[in-house]
Amino acid sequence: MTPADYDFLRRLLKERSGLDLSADKQYLVESRLAPLTRRAGLAGIPELVVKMKGGAEALIKDVVEAMTTNETFFFRDKVPFDHLSGTVLPALLSARASRRHLRIWSAASSTGQEPYSIAMCLKEKAVELAGWRIEIVATDLSQQVLEKSKAGIYSQFEVQRGLPIQLLVKHFKQIGELWQINPDIRSMVQYRQLNLLQDFSHLGRFDVVFCRNVLIYFDQETKVSIFERIAKMMEPDGMLMLGAAETVVGMTDAFRPYPERRGLYQPNPARGARPGFGAMQPQLRVVAAR
Ligand SMILES: C[S@@+](CC[C@H](N)C(=O)[O-])C[C@H]1O[C@@H](n2cnc3c(N)ncnc32)[C@H](O)[C@@H]1O
Repeated sequence: MTPADYDFLRRLLKERSGLDLSADKQYLVESRLAPLTRRAGLAGIPELVVKMKGGAEALIKDVVEAMTTNETFFFRDKVPFDHLSGTVLPALLSARASRRHLRIWSAASSTGQEPYSIAMCLKEKAVELAGWRIEIVATDLSQQVLEKSKAGIYSQFEVQRGLPIQLLVKHFKQIGELWQINPDIRSMVQYRQLNLLQDFSHLGRFDVVFCRNVLIYFDQETKVSIFERIAKMMEPDGMLMLGAAETVVGMTDAFRPYPERRGLYQPNPARGARPGFGAMQPQLRVVAAR
């Protein structure tokens, strides 16, 4: 790959997915795109770049997807899910006692382990949540990971990463060497393809947002824009969960850290309420927690 090819790919990826590659990541691009070039019957990256410059949209989409990092696992980092069960849900159960409706967004859901972990946490509170409307909306840029999520089928290796054995037994069915998550958990999650660089206000207002391990790939300006737009979609007492290497501190005052809960943030009341936003709620399919 020539320096000009690398520059072209860097610019395209930044524009299409937000991926901010430093000048020394040629090896990463080469290793991620090699299988794709082979599959497309191309001689190498220079030929791929020529086709992309010629406007081969399907190929561009494949390149953008191939460059996403989809690493994830059930109950990743554990602490966020302890916060969800021990802090966030008890607070919202009380604050929403009359409305009995909760909306949760997993904003870069990858192959589904994050939204299904959230669903399993909610299921553990089935008694308290009986009669509530629960929506878990899971979105990702990559269509490929969304397809895997919808199927809810995981390998032995994948279910061994982070998933407690009692939850495996309770919520999964074994199919040969694979494990499929049960329909009651699967139906709690709605999947949609969504690029965080684009407008997402049509998703409506959320009580809880998980936006974990995706902002790390973006530059500061992109992170700030995403934080600001997420804040506008959150209930004033809603909660934002970030990944272990992510923070809003020093970036935006749209959120403030939740006291003594690492990775958990709340919209900053100093920014003020946003009256009338509720009118933009879309009609999403609603699934009751059983
Ligand atoms: C490392 S995974 C994180 C998965 C999960 N949140 C977790 O913490 O385990 C990052 C995900 O972000 C998605 N992604 C990358 N750029 C994106 C964008 N611009 N908009 C939406 N999703 C994006 C990738 O496709 C990938 O599935």
